[in-house]
Amino acid sequence: MDLLRFSAFWCGTILFSCFLFGQSEGTMLKIKRLCKFCDVQQTRCQGKGSCKVDCNITSICPNDSDVCVTIWRKKEDNVTFDTICHNPELRLHGLRLDDYNNSKCEMRERSGQGSLFYICSCSEDECNEHIFFNSNSPVVAVVLVSLVPLLVMAVFVITSFYFYRVYRQRRANSRRKKGAPLDSDAHAIMIDDEGSDSSSAHANNLNHNTELLPIALDALVGKGRFAEVYRAKLKQGSVSEEQGFETVAVKIFPYEEYASWKNEKDVFSDADLRHENVLHFLTAEERKVQRQYWIITAYHAKGNLQDFLTHHVISWHDLWLLGGSLAQGVAHLHSDHTSCGRNKIAIAHRDIKSSNILVKSDLNCCLCDFGLALRLDSSLSVDELANSGQVGTARYMAPEVLESRINLENIESFKQADVYSMALVLWELTSRCSAIGEVKEYEPPFGILREHPCVESMKDSVVRDRGRPDIPNSWTNHTGIQLICSSIQDCWDHDPEARLTAHCVSERFSEMEYLDKLSERSISEEKIPEEICVGDLK
Ligand code: ADE
Repeated sequence: MDLLRFSAFWCGTILFSCFLFGQSEGTMLKIKRLCKFCDVQQTRCQGKGSCKVDCNITSICPNDSDVCVTIWRKKEDNVTFDTICHNPELRLHGLRLDDYNNSKCEMRERSGQGSLFYICSCSEDECNEHIFFNSNSPVVAVVLVSLVPLLVMAVFVITSFYFYRVYRQRRANSRRKKGAPLDSDAHAIMIDDEGSDSSSAHANNLNHNTELLPIALDALVGKGRFAEVYRAKLKQGSVSEEQGFETVAVKIFPYEEYASWKNEKDVFSDADLRHENVLHFLTAEERKVQRQYWIITAYHAKGNLQDFLTHHVISWHDLWLLGGSLAQGVAHLHSDHTSCGRNKIAIAHRDIKSSNILVKSDLNCCLCDFGLALRLDSSLSVDELANSGQVGTARYMAPEVLESRINLENIESFKQADVYSMALVLWELTSRCSAIGEVKEYEPPFGILREHPCVESMKDSVVRDRGRPDIPNSWTNHTGIQLICSSIQDCWDHDPEARLTAHCVSERFSEMEYLDKLSERSISEEKIPEEICVGDLK
């Protein structure tokens, strides 16, 4: 009997323990699930983040294996929750539940229900009360998965392109250093050494870059009416110091002198202006931060002709080179065709003077400062020409300009006025040439009357008195000088129509080459062939 009671006690204890354990773990003994069970009810849940289902009914699920399920649906403005118990072995709305082992109810979008339809299932009591919408919806995931390779490819292409550009730039720079020509599309700024000091950089004026050139200003080398000129270092592209800098000239206009900068830029921008006796233009820029306009050109270390003549006495050969190249530069400016015969727009400089002419390292002149230049476009109206007014520097103004009697109906008039000014520069050159005999200190044409004589005093000398700079007889002992002086006189004639053209003056210089060859042998042995005389040159 005791044995029977003992056995019954232990069986009861084991059964009770199993019941308790089953209660807590729900594994050993399967007990029924408690789920929110309101069937269909309206909700304000917008299908994002997490929502609480507003269901007051908690039911004991009818079947042992039931799990809790919540369905969120949106059809037009009608948003609803279904909260139910469901046997996961059976399909629900044609779908198989495959996430019911979760303790949380995590919503997933299901397709093919004719409305926006999310469903979740879980296996903890009332776990379908709090539901969570997964922000990384499959659509987002698909988009991300397809975009990532595209992004990787884009990064690869951009990086390759960048390194290719750096490689091309390095190669171009090293070729430039070796003197080889550049690839035409190597950089917006092109370098060529034609017609400039070897230290100068030249760029294509068609700088399509909106970026400003990397430039460091060095020293002030000139000061004009409208602008200051600096020597500067141009850092080529983004490649650093090891490639070195190129020296350039930067003409800086304050904002107030916009008109002068614009005119010079527009004149320079005409590719047909390119000539070895015209200053080589690189680019023009607006420097907003400094409120300045810049014109960047080749740099010529010998400076302007006036300063050069102040400090140097020149030989006959130098006079021939400087004078001939000056005439060639003016002739090119005035010409309506290029050396290849293509049509070009003729330009009048309107401020030719020795300080607006630069001396290149090969003792060729080049014209600079086109702030007052005028494009002699046939479409220019008489009014436009008249509005351009009496411009230039009084000391170098032709008599008709001083008197404001220039013939505006004929564009040749502007060229004739330039030729007058050029004659004064040729006189300055000759006055400092050792071939004239005794050479005096440099003096500008018409002497040092005043640093800047006014129009009225120049009118008295040039128009009323018909005065011109002195050409002493002693100068004409040298045949070459004699020829140059005769050209000078033909160029400063009071009658503009009677003046030579710049082209004619340049041809006269060319014809003097034999004199130059003779002078190379020996000035004292100088002998001029009898068949060539001054008259032939006219
Ligand atoms: N003065 C004015 N322009 C100049 C230039 N380009 N080079 C040297 N000196 C100058």
